[in-house]
Amino acid sequence: MHIKLVKPSEKYKKSFLQSFKSLYLFNYQDLDLSYKQVNLNFKEFLRTLHNQSNKKALAKGRVPSTTYWLVRDLKYLGSVNIRHYLNKHLKRVGGHIGYEITLKERGKGYGNAILKLALKKAKRLGIDKALLTCDKSNIPSKKVIEYNGGRIIKSLFKQGKAPEKLRYWIKV
Ligand SMILES: CC(C)(COP(=O)(O)OP(=O)(O)OC[C@H]1O[C@@H](n2cnc3c(N)ncnc32)[C@H](O)[C@@H]1OP(=O)(O)O)[C@@H](O)C(=O)NCCC(=O)NCCS
Repeated sequence: MHIKLVKPSEKYKKSFLQSFKSLYLFNYQDLDLSYKQVNLNFKEFLRTLHNQSNKKALAKGRVPSTTYWLVRDLKYLGSVNIRHYLNKHLKRVGGHIGYEITLKERGKGYGNAILKLALKKAKRLGIDKALLTCDKSNIPSKKVIEYNGGRIIKSLFKQGKAPEKLRYWIKV
């Protein structure tokens, strides 16, 4: 099984769009783009994604981040988003790294793999200690973090009616 992280590109358009259509991929919610918009203007979508890593192209206060796709040949398997540093909100809720595996490919070990590969990319971005968070009820994600060496931080984060968050450090 040869899988790798790649920068989003046209090569994976067909497979990515199948996934994007069947599931509201949460890594892309911030961009607020519909399937139709992405499908019709894929190049523009890629440009928007790439610009997320360029602080100068972002609104004030937004933290630059890099997105990679996990692929097997031309098949899109999932996405991971690495935030270059933490702001107040990311320190409490979002953490350094967000990931997701497309619905049909879950439960095959790709979740563990995407975080493992993402930690190597994080290291290259200068992150020595990565903060990972997940909802307390999100058992697969909790397992992915723990498989990758996550050490739980004592405090659970709870804000209003939002679900309780577990927070972990991973030494990169
Ligand atoms: C979290 C997520 C990435 C896991 O991906 P995955 O490909 O299913 O994960 P894996 O197959 O590598 O499994 C990871 C672990 O979770 C376990 N697992 C997977 N699905 C499970 C389920 N439904 N219930 C309980 N455990 C589960 C696996 O057995 C494995 O544990 P192990 O290492 O002890 O064997 C995937 O469920 C997902 O994309 N969820 C939606 C987005 C999300 O929640 N992202 C994380 C935000 S914090």
